[in-house]
Amino acid sequence: MRIEKNGVVVVGLQYGDEGKGKILDFLLGSGDACVRFQGGPNAGHTIRNGDDKHVLHSLPTGILKKNVDNYIGAGCVLDPDGLENEIVNLKAKDAYKGKLFISPKAHIIKQEHREQDATSELSKEIGTTKRGIGPAYADKVRRVGLRAGDIELKLSADVKYGDVVDTFGFKHYDTIYYEGAQGTMLDVDHGTYPYVTSSNTIAGAACTGAGVPPTHINKVIGVMKAYTTRVGSGPFPTELFNSDGEHLGRVGNEYGSTTGRKRRCGWLDLKALENAVRINGVTALAVTKLDVLTMPKIYAAVNYQSYGTPVFVEFPGVKQDITNMRDETQLPDEVKAYLDFISDYLDVPIYYVSVGPDTEQTIPCWRNF
Ligand code: GDP
Ligand code: IMO
Ligand code: MG
Repeated sequence: MRIEKNGVVVVGLQYGDEGKGKILDFLLGSGDACVRFQGGPNAGHTIRNGDDKHVLHSLPTGILKKNVDNYIGAGCVLDPDGLENEIVNLKAKDAYKGKLFISPKAHIIKQEHREQDATSELSKEIGTTKRGIGPAYADKVRRVGLRAGDIELKLSADVKYGDVVDTFGFKHYDTIYYEGAQGTMLDVDHGTYPYVTSSNTIAGAACTGAGVPPTHINKVIGVMKAYTTRVGSGPFPTELFNSDGEHLGRVGNEYGSTTGRKRRCGWLDLKALENAVRINGVTALAVTKLDVLTMPKIYAAVNYQSYGTPVFVEFPGVKQDITNMRDETQLPDEVKAYLDFISDYLDVPIYYVSVGPDTEQTIPCWRNF
């Protein structure tokens, strides 16, 4: 079979919630496919278009678009009741537009998994979303799991069973977007173990989770916030406990999309991002939430001293409201300087800059192209 090079992985480079949903909504167009390849309803991807706001947990972002086919791949874990709720809610708002395919190999999250997740949290305190993700994946690798193809899913939408590869050739779609969930630092192998999620979140997982060959992927878009947030426990070297952290949380509205928990906030960590860029093979960056940096001075960690103390570089903060800017040339010098530093340090071009939660508030740009 001829392999078409039209596979684009969109992946989070930090601890999740980088704005993957928003960037995907910007990128997806008619004739494309959108594939979730790992994770489950621990994800919360927010999409805003004017007064329309949706938070998707199990459904791929392309479900909001006509003429986009959406896949829940074999590498995902699926809560049938949660999925049904999402479908019903979207249909009630007339927002369910795409088509949905579910891999028969995706594993089912059972009530007992949620109970086990809650119980293990009492001693482990990882700060999970308590959606049963870890126990469902544990049953999968113990080879005692229940798969979507083993049961009859009762859903209020016309859903087809089928993998990516089984049901279509690559050529059917203009572009196939692989929608990452969580972020690189939460990857079960390459993240801050044991304070991680229970799946591989990095770009390579798109191949195993969707069942496509590595040769099909030709772009990896790394989504990163202009600062850092983390929900749940675990190391966070650049975390802030002062008024700057309070500013990022308040102006950035940093509350978890799935659990509503307050996100921990801190400065950008370029040392951690350097590793994320390498491990994902990022070909272009999307930098989000630049509009939040309206403070006198901002910082980015560029190294660590012994004992893990970050070494920071100082930058002027963003001096004006940039939320209405739609063109790269309009961006103020301090924003351009910050972006150039990021792009130079990571040695990756920045293709997209986000200046607000609305999909429209996205600026395609060619910094360091
Ligand atoms: P995801 O899990 O990576 O899709 O990200 P989430 O949706 O969980 O969290 C990102 C949050 O930031 C959401 O509330 C978005 O609406 C919001 N957001 C995304 N991009 C921007 C941006 O550029 N500026 C601001 N102020 N908010 C943004
Ligand atoms: P999206 O896709 C942010 C975190 C949890 C916890 C750890 C393990 O919206 O970026 P789990 O329930 O997966 O066993 O929890 O991972 N976590 C996320 N943090 N965004 C997410 O998804 C997350 N999914 C899980 O807070 O620390
Ligand atoms: Mg999220």
